[in-house]
Amino acid sequence: MKKHKVTICTGTLCHVMGGSELPALSQFIPPQYLNQVEIKGSPCINHCKNQDMKPPFAEIDGDIFCEATIDKLVKELIKRIENDS
Ligand code: FES
Repeated sequence: MKKHKVTICTGTLCHVMGGSELPALSQFIPPQYLNQVEIKGSPCINHCKNQDMKPPFAEIDGDIFCEATIDKLVKELIKRIENDS
């Protein structure tokens, strides 16, 4: 089964800019989809160096999401998982 890889930035800037809630992401994913998602935290994933985008940052399957919220990431994951089937 295909797994969608989520990387959450746990770097200081992302953390203070609203990312501190993001590590709880898995609690908001519908339980039936949890086995299709792989979530990891990573110290600064370098997107904060890009002045055009606002933190906090996360990546799903290598695509960058800025101003990431749990809601935004959960919606995107559900969309991707439903597209797989
Ligand atoms: S601290 Fe999050 S991308 Fe740099």
